[in-house]
Parts: sequence; C-alpha cells; structure tokens
Amino acid sequence: MGMRILGWGTALPDRVVTNADLEKTLDTSDEWIVERSGIRQRHIGESTAEIAIDAGRSALSQAKVDPASIDLMILATTTPDQSVPATSAHVHHELGLGGGAFDVNAACAGFVYSLVMANGLLGSGAKRILVIGAETLSGLTDWNDRNTAVLFGDGGGALVLESVPDEGQLLSWDLGLDGSARHILHADLGGFIRMDGREVFKRAVRVLVDSATRTLEQAKVRADEIKLLVPHQANIRIIQAACDRLGIEHDRAALVLHRTGNTSSASIPLALVDAIDHGRLESDDLVLFSGFGAGMTWGSALIRWQAEPDE
Ligand code: UT7
Repeated sequence: MGMRILGWGTALPDRVVTNADLEKTLDTSDEWIVERSGIRQRHIGESTAEIAIDAGRSALSQAKVDPASIDLMILATTTPDQSVPATSAHVHHELGLGGGAFDVNAACAGFVYSLVMANGLLGSGAKRILVIGAETLSGLTDWNDRNTAVLFGDGGGALVLESVPDEGQLLSWDLGLDGSARHILHADLGGFIRMDGREVFKRAVRVLVDSATRTLEQAKVRADEIKLLVPHQANIRIIQAACDRLGIEHDRAALVLHRTGNTSSASIPLALVDAIDHGRLESDDLVLFSGFGAGMTWGSALIRWQAEPDE
C-alpha cells in the first residue's frame, strides 16, 4: 500500500510587503536582503485557519473529491491561532471534512513530517488524507528586529492524498531532530522569534544535505536522477550551498522565497505547486522534498511524480 497525490492548492494573503516597505521602518536595505537571503517580498495577513482553509479548498476542488470523503486532515503549523483547540478543528469544520484532524508542529520540516505520517496511515487503512502546511509567521515576528523581520511571511499549501494498492509515489523518507540545538531558533510563549542566524545557517546546510543523502540512498537513487529538489525556502544561499554539496544544479531547485519569504511548513508545498504551475514536472520525474527548522528538525521525502491527478 502507498499514496497517490490527487490534488494540490496554495494560498497567500493579498497584502504584499516589499523590501522597500521594510526599508522605511528598519535599518536595512533591499540590496542587503536580496543578497543575503534572496527574498524580495512576503505576503502578510489573515489567520492560520483562513489560509489553511483557502489552500485546502483549492486542493480538494482540484482533486474533485467530496470533502466528507476525507478520513483525516493533518495541519502542519508552527503558528496556531490559539493554544486550544487545535487550529485543525476550525479548518476541518469550514471545509466540511470527514474523519479526524490534528495539528503537527515540527517547525519548517512540518510538511514533510505530515506527508510521511499520512503515507503510513494510507498504508494502514485510511483512504484519503488532506495534508496542509499553513503559517502566519508575521504574528511571531518582531517587526523592530532586522535580524528576523526581513525573513518571514505568511502562506499555505495543501495536498490531497489517496491510498493505492501498490508502492505509490513516496519512495523513501528520512525524519530527524537534534533537540540540543533548540535554543538557536525559538519563540517563547507570547514572545517573538529569536534566532542565531549564522548558527542556523551552518547547521541547515549540513542537515539538509545529510537528510537528502540518506533519503536518496534508501531508494538507491543518485542525485543526478533527481528532476527537482523542493527545499525549505529559508535562504537562497542555504539552498545553493546544499545543491553544490549534493551535486544538484541550482536550476533544479524549486524556488518561491523571492516572492513569499520563509513560510515555514507552507514553504515546500508553495514551491512544489509553483514548479507544477510552471510545467517543470512530468510523469515519473523524481522529486526530493527536504525541510529543516527549529528544534532542529529535518525531514526529506522522495516522490515519483505523476503528471495529472486524474491520469
Ligand atoms: O526556517 C528556519 C530557518 N532559518 C534560517 O534558515 C535562517 C538561517 N540564517 C540566515 O538565513 C542568515 O544567517 C541571515 C539571512 C539571517 C543573515 O545572513 P548572514 O549572512 O548570516 O548575516 P550575519 O548574521 O552574519 O550578519 C552580517 C551583518 C551584521 O553586521 P556586522 O556585525 O557585520 O556589522 C548584521 O548586523 O549584517 C547585519 N545585518 C543586517 N544588515 C542589514 C543583519 N540583519 C540585517 C538586515 N539588514 N536585515
């Protein structure tokens, strides 16, 4: 038993904040932000549930499935709308989903964690699972702190998955965590994100490369066989350094961070759907997802793409 991707969708709030907007309130410049991170703008606004509902609705409509036929919804988010109940309760109700739902907080690796979990559940009885990554990092951002304010944004992405009797599209995966590094990127309850940027950068490249390598090895796939790397969108320099070490050309990485900023668990589905919309994937292409984030968590998943959900 395995999983098949039936549909996908994304959501970004309407309000766009450009680097030029940030120059007005922070001691920063468009030049610095673009050169050091690759980010040019970010979307901001709405609640995590509203973004998740938009992304989920769009994925369900593309998959042409009745929301009531969903057995389970997993919402990856680091920025829930409240402590209790889980944000997934609101999303589940508004979308009219069947089955249960819960939130997962694995920071920027949350979407990959959720995808791997969904794959396991689809192999043990679940028929259809909706996986959403949705975030409102703008609410966790100290807009007076130039170290972090220039990096984050809000957004969401979703996949509808169905169980299939064969191996399915997920070929191998790797999930991990090094809790001894939890202090380098954190937000206390009621507080803002604080980050040792250089330390996160260094470790991010390492864990991305190691996790991606383990995932490729498990499936006996070489890096040059990968059509598209869909990495967590934190910094263009992290992505390019990881590509160099993996032996993947820069233009084989999916990128949306220039227009979205870092959207944590939403960044991988946002980058994936952007690549699909630009016609970058065909049936049987190998796609490697790789995320890393606060914790530090990391997660990679190797997918064999299927071009049209209804093919
Ligand atoms: O999704 C979670 C994972 N998060 C990440 O992956 C973030 C990882 N880290 C990074 O992306 C990078 O470390 C940053 C983009 C955060 C920073 O880039 P950097 O090249 O590591 O810069 P830095 O922290 O070494 O700072 C270089 C200089 C410093 O000034 P001095 O000490 O050289 O005088 C900073 O104070 O740049 C200064 N600086 C800024 N200048 C203009 C820091 N932030 C800014 C800013 N505008 N926004």
